[in-house]
Amino acid sequence: MYSFFKPLLFLLSPEKAHKITVFFLDLAAEFPPTRWLLRRFFCSSKSGLEKNVLGLRFPNAIGLAAGFDKDAKHIHGMACLGFGFIEVGTVTPLPQSGNPLPRLFRLPADNALINRMGFNNEGLDALVGRLKKLRQKGAPNGVLIGGNIGKNKATPNEQAEQDYLICFEALFPWVDYFVVNVSSPNTPNLRDLQEKEPLTRLLLLLQEKNKAKSAPKPILLKIAPDLTDTQLDDIADIIQATGLAGVIATNTTIGRGGLATTANTLENIGNGGLSGAPLRVRATEVIRYLRTKLSPDIVIIGVGGIDSPASAQEKIAAGADLIQIYSGLVYEGPGLVRRILESF
Ligand SMILES: Cc1cc2nc3c(=O)[nH]c(=O)nc-3n(C[C@H](O)[C@H](O)[C@H](O)COP(=O)(O)O)c2cc1C
Repeated sequence: MYSFFKPLLFLLSPEKAHKITVFFLDLAAEFPPTRWLLRRFFCSSKSGLEKNVLGLRFPNAIGLAAGFDKDAKHIHGMACLGFGFIEVGTVTPLPQSGNPLPRLFRLPADNALINRMGFNNEGLDALVGRLKKLRQKGAPNGVLIGGNIGKNKATPNEQAEQDYLICFEALFPWVDYFVVNVSSPNTPNLRDLQEKEPLTRLLLLLQEKNKAKSAPKPILLKIAPDLTDTQLDDIADIIQATGLAGVIATNTTIGRGGLATTANTLENIGNGGLSGAPLRVRATEVIRYLRTKLSPDIVIIGVGGIDSPASAQEKIAAGADLIQIYSGLVYEGPGLVRRILESF
């Protein structure tokens, strides 16, 4: 069915197509008969899909990657597509509009996207308000919610810790796990926070606040695929030393190697993070490398270029405990989640 809708959606700008898709999805998820149809169509009824990791019971191992539902506006709709968990955010303390349009581009020749959204989000208060309401009703289908946190563009790196702490404290009652995002290429200098010294300080600070709670929550670190092996070694050491629960590998890449899209088109698009099929191999390499460096109790969530059961399996074989999808949904449609789950 997606092969019918996809050419129509691809006539629209990527952001408009996204808005229209989630509008109709939310509408369908609101009414019991259409919600039933959605679930019937997209949710797998296969048994034994649950995964117990991070001290949590995931209904299944496939999550919606951060950035798709930054403001938690579409949890009900996305839960009807069969996801076991949904990562909201990246949220910043204050609302921000992100970069000017256009800032999201399709690369159909490569089954890829380039985005420079720049953490456009309605801010922490709006997100907390929505999650509070959601929790009062109970999250649909037992889906777990992750909170991906970041800093405002206007906050200098020297004060970034404060932004992460504010997000952590406000979201604490409402999410099941946290993700510290220091790997988006679209907030100037954000990725400098992946350096050993600032990263250790940030994570220790968050862990200190976390451990002071009566029931601490898992904190994971989301990393870029563009790190060298030496930087990955440092990251692995820091994760172990700070007692983090896990790592999400990977965010989008600033690399443009091996693309079928012409150099001219890429130049016209400009800066941004590349996601989708061309990211697959590198993301898997990072997962495989980190798995050899981290103790087995540290959870790896694998993300980057998953667009088929085989590519999902590749991430798991490399050492991922859970996986996430974003660009694959755009190119393969919502039936992808069920297809992967039924291949497990
Ligand atoms: C439009 C867009 C927005 C994104 N926004 C975020 C974000 O806010 N925070 C984040 O951690 N990752 C963000 N990502 C990265 C995805 O979560 C994911 O790590 C990346 O796209 C690789 O997965 P994929 O190949 O399945 O798309 C975004 C990706 C896209 C395409």
